[in-house]
Amino acid sequence: MAKKTVTDETDLHRLLLDWFTRERRDLPWRRTQDPYAIWVSEIMLQQTRVAAVLEPYRAFLERFPTVQALAAAEEAAVLAAWSGLGYYRRARMLHRAAQQICSSGNGHIPLSHAALLELPGVGRYTAAAIASIAYGEPVAAVDGNVERVLLRLRGWGSEDPVLHAKYLRRVQREAARLLDPVSPGEWNQAMMELGATVCLPRSPRCAACPWLAGCATRGEHETVRRAPMRTEIRNYRWQTRLADGMEQLLLIQRSQAQTVMPGMWELPPMPDSPSKHNHLGKPILQLRHAIMQVNYRIAILRGEGPAPADGRWVTAEEAATMALTGLARKAMRRLGWLPKLTRAVSRP
Ligand code: ADE
Repeated sequence: MAKKTVTDETDLHRLLLDWFTRERRDLPWRRTQDPYAIWVSEIMLQQTRVAAVLEPYRAFLERFPTVQALAAAEEAAVLAAWSGLGYYRRARMLHRAAQQICSSGNGHIPLSHAALLELPGVGRYTAAAIASIAYGEPVAAVDGNVERVLLRLRGWGSEDPVLHAKYLRRVQREAARLLDPVSPGEWNQAMMELGATVCLPRSPRCAACPWLAGCATRGEHETVRRAPMRTEIRNYRWQTRLADGMEQLLLIQRSQAQTVMPGMWELPPMPDSPSKHNHLGKPILQLRHAIMQVNYRIAILRGEGPAPADGRWVTAEEAATMALTGLARKAMRRLGWLPKLTRAVSRP
């Protein structure tokens, strides 16, 4: 009789699900069965870490508790509530999808993976996550974390991009094959959790892994090759004035034609680098800010000048309700201009 190995599927299932029962993080979207709340969480979790999603998620659901409330909102209010999460296209798509559900559907979040895929901003992974978690549909959700877990488990992955692409297609099939049909939502979340907390990209915590004995690589091979981060320098102007006894700050609105964060409010950019051009003076704040593949080194300098056409003088109270870029919000908080935990919500 063939010797039983730990990689038998029943073992993989039991080991992972037992581990998940013990180790699962208590996250707010794991305490609900509401498909709308689960959908919002999955959109926020695209490209954003769990820790950064917790507070915006709570505030967003407080502000827009139902798909109807979201559909009825102004886009500016939705963007304001998204402020701090970045990748604002996700918020626009979520809003558009809510309107689609309320105008052409019956106000219910679509029930199946296939129907979810019709919604703006919902791709294969997100549809699978929602369908399995909210409705128990047996579809595998494969995000970057799950991909890495499976590549390592099976010892796939290659430096050769063509071969690597082939492995990635194989990963999809493997994920579907391994999926637990009885608890697909639990299974998918357990896979995500393993990738997010144990099978880490750079320093996998193999000793804590329930699949250690059956893993082909034990984290030894590099399965992710990210483009190296670029560093860029950006300077912004901090210009305030007193009007009617209130301090006001000059903000400008990014053009609607921008591909990144169109229509959002930010500090007026300044052209020169303080490291090379001393005439700009000493920055009042320096900070780092990472967006996608770029590490920005930011300097905020006090400055003066006429307000441009796309500029607006705002009080701290007004600013707190506007769709600010994440960087503007960060700088304004650090300079004590916004309270530390100003919630990213807009007033009705
Ligand atoms: N990342 C994407 N979806 C997630 C979820 N449901 N729980 C934790 N992390 C996630």
